[in-house]
This record gives sequence, C-alpha cells and structure tokens, in this order.
Amino acid sequence: MEAKECGPGHFFSAVPRSSFLCLHSFANLFFGFPVIPVGKARTFGMVVRHDRLHAASCHGMSEFIDDLTRRLAVIRERGLLRELRRVDSVVGPRLTVAGRELLNFASNDYLGLAGHPALRAAAVDAVGRYGAGSGASRLICGSLAPHHELEVALARFKGTEAALSFSSGYAAALGTICALVGRGDTIIIDRLVHACVVDAAKLCGAKLQVFPHNDLGELEKLLRRLGQRQTGTAASATPRSRTLIVTESVFSMDGDAAPLRELVELKERFGAWLMLDEAHATGVLGAGLRGLAEAAGVAHRIEVQMGTLGKAIGAAGGFIAGPQVLVDYLVNAARSFIFSTAPTPAGAAAARAGVELLQSAEGQARRTQLFERVAQARAGLARLGWNCEAACGPILPLILGAEEAAVAAAAALRERGVFLPAIRYPTVARGEARLRLSLTAAHTEADVETLLRALAEARVEPRSRDGHREVAPE
Ligand SMILES: Cc1ncc(COP(=O)(O)O)c(C=O)c1O
Repeated sequence: MEAKECGPGHFFSAVPRSSFLCLHSFANLFFGFPVIPVGKARTFGMVVRHDRLHAASCHGMSEFIDDLTRRLAVIRERGLLRELRRVDSVVGPRLTVAGRELLNFASNDYLGLAGHPALRAAAVDAVGRYGAGSGASRLICGSLAPHHELEVALARFKGTEAALSFSSGYAAALGTICALVGRGDTIIIDRLVHACVVDAAKLCGAKLQVFPHNDLGELEKLLRRLGQRQTGTAASATPRSRTLIVTESVFSMDGDAAPLRELVELKERFGAWLMLDEAHATGVLGAGLRGLAEAAGVAHRIEVQMGTLGKAIGAAGGFIAGPQVLVDYLVNAARSFIFSTAPTPAGAAAARAGVELLQSAEGQARRTQLFERVAQARAGLARLGWNCEAACGPILPLILGAEEAAVAAAAALRERGVFLPAIRYPTVARGEARLRLSLTAAHTEADVETLLRALAEARVEPRSRDGHREVAPE
C-alpha cells in the first residue's frame, strides 16, 4: 500500500516497508512530528501533501541506493563480487546447494563434530533447560550455567587458570586486543593474520606495526627499534608503554605454522606480550589437541591464548584462555564481551560437548583419521604438481593468482560435484586468489579420490606468479 503511494521509483515498489520508513523519518526531521501515509496524511490537524514529502524523502533514499549500486558495480568489475549461497542440507561432508549434492572441501569442521550426536544432544538439552536465547549480556543476567560450564571445560582443556567465551572469534580478538593495548602502546602483527586481528589492531589506538609473514628477523628489528625508543634514545620515549605481538599458530589461508618457539624467545627477550590465535590449530595439533603452543611446549609462556569454537570444536564462538587475572580484566574491559548479548545456551552447551570430545579417545581417533586424509590429499596433489610442503595441517592452499582463474576453477569443480569456493581479495592479497582446500575427519578415502579426479579433469593446475601454468613434475 505505502509502496504505491510513495512514487514511481522502482526501488520503492520493490521495498514497501522502506518507503514508509523514509517518509516517516523525513517528516519527523522536517516537521517535528510523525505522519501516517493514508491518502492525504492527517497529522495533528495538519494536512501534509504526499507528493512533496515523497519527492524529497525518496530523493535521499535513491541517492543512497545509487551510491551502493555504483560501489557494487566496481566490486563486480574487479571480479570480487561475493554472494550468499544457500545451503539446504548438511550431512557429514556433503552439502545440498540449489538442489545439488556437493562434496564439501571448504569446511573448518576439521574433526567432523558439528553434526556429532553428542553436540546435537547438548544443544537440544540446553534449549529445553534455558530456552533459545540468553536474554541479556553476560554482565546483566545472561551469564547462564552453560557459559560457565564451557569456560571451566576450556580452562581445563587448555591447562590455564581461566577461560572466557565470546560470541565469535572475531569478537574475542576485537574485545581482547582493544582491552589490552591503546594509545601510547604498540601492536605488532604478522602480515597474514586474520581480519579480526587487523581490525582490532586498527581500532585499538596503539601504534600498528606489521612484519612480513613469519619473518622473525624483521620482527626482531622492529622490537629493537622500539626498545631503543622506550629506553629514551628517541624523543618520543614513553617508558611505560606496552608491546603486544599477535600472530596465528596455523595460518587460515596458507595452512602453514608460525615459528612459535623462536617467537616466544624473541618476545621474552624484548619484554613484549604475545597473543596467539589458535583458531586452526585447536583440535588439530598437540598431543592433547590443544594447538601449536602445546606441540611446541610453550603454552605456559604465552600471555594470551585465543581460539574459536566454530572450527574443530564443532559449535560457534570464540575464547580466550590464560591467567585468572586476564579473564577478570577482560570481563571488565573487553567491550565486545560487555556490550553484547551472551551467546545462546545451545551454542555454549554444544561447544562444551565439543571440548569434552576433543579430550576423549574419540577425539584422538578423529584426529588420526583427519591426518590420514591430509596425507592422502597431499600425495595426490603432489602428483598433480601442487606443492603443499609448507602446510602443517588440514588447510592446503591451491594458489591460482588471478581472481578470475580462482572463480573459474571453483565453478569447474562445482560442475563435477565438488564444493571448493574461490578465496579472493580482501581475504587474501590481490593476485593471490586461491582454492583453500580443507580436509576433515568426515571425509573418506573415496571422497579425496573424487576431489583429486575433479581437479585433474577440470585442469585446475598450479600457476606461476605470471599466470602461466607451471610444468608438473614427471
Ligand atoms: C585465524 C582466525 N581467527 C579468527 C577467526 C574468527 O573466528 P569466528 O569465525 O568465530 O568469528 C577466524 C575465522 O573464522 C580465523 O580463521
């Protein structure tokens, strides 16, 4: 009804509710009272002419629409347009998209726990006990038993004094980094850290320094320069400033590992703090599946250990593990924790079940199964000319370079029933588009063979940096 009254613009006929809102807010702004769009609107005894109102209000909205349409066109021209793909069912590593079943090689559910009966049952039970939502933020009345049980389980799993859960890994990074450092401090990040760390580093107000990926020589130079400034050899000396280094243990888009032992020694030598994002190593590396810090034997020397609950743990959310004082401080200072509704009880309960599973014999068996598939895939990829030597776990990047090449390769694989979407800028640097292959414990030997066959048939082959096909080894 309102749509027709609002004028000729195609947008308005498509989005009736928006037209009402724009009329309403315009009237509020210019006349100081709301109008009701019924024929000639009558408001507080005053007749407002619709046509004038509509012209002015729709003008603002159409500029808005035009602006966004132009921006989207630029993204499309660059081959970077992203669209949501609706997944109608998930059964193990199989997805149904647009009525077609596809073999999924894009999931971070490394141990295949997301559909595990124990996680499902925990979620259902939590809904029965606490309802669907948590009702408020943790500091108001949303700090439900499942959140506390999850945090106790996480601390036990990580071997730390305490842990704190967040609604996402993104929120964990944002809240924690911004709470720990600010103006007058320095944050140093690896060039390839996840966007959540980059965003937090920009937002926190500390001086941002970036070191080339895993290049500890460059990191040392940065720390040395900073140390000199802090001991007063430069004019801008701020003696009590903090330095926080943030890196990932297993890098999300390259699958390689940070040189963690050396990194820990370096940060200790220069009195910096280290925050380690173990999103892709939790549940995958370490004798107890705790991550790379455990595997390297340095977990107790890392100030802030971060992880996510939505990858190998099989649920959703993020967490920080460390000393009790860190958690107590974050409860008071991490804004993404304080000013956000607590995660759902079902999510927290499912995550706790996932954490318990990681520590069971089944968790170990699933990890073994995962690495069997990884070994199979690596061997097959090597036969096809791919070099995945640097990868240390289930993420195997197939770098194609040009964005269009990655999109075309993904489409060709989809034709063959394999789901392996293109990863493009800004997720990775321009010209480093790729297929990010991830294996899970739910894949069978036959699934990996299907993938390898599809890659060969679709002629998805390694490319050199100049875009030419590299010659596959004999
Ligand atoms: C390395 C890394 N850290 C953090 C995150 C963010 O976690 P979440 O998806 O739970 O927000 C991700 C990705 O999802 C990631 O890959």
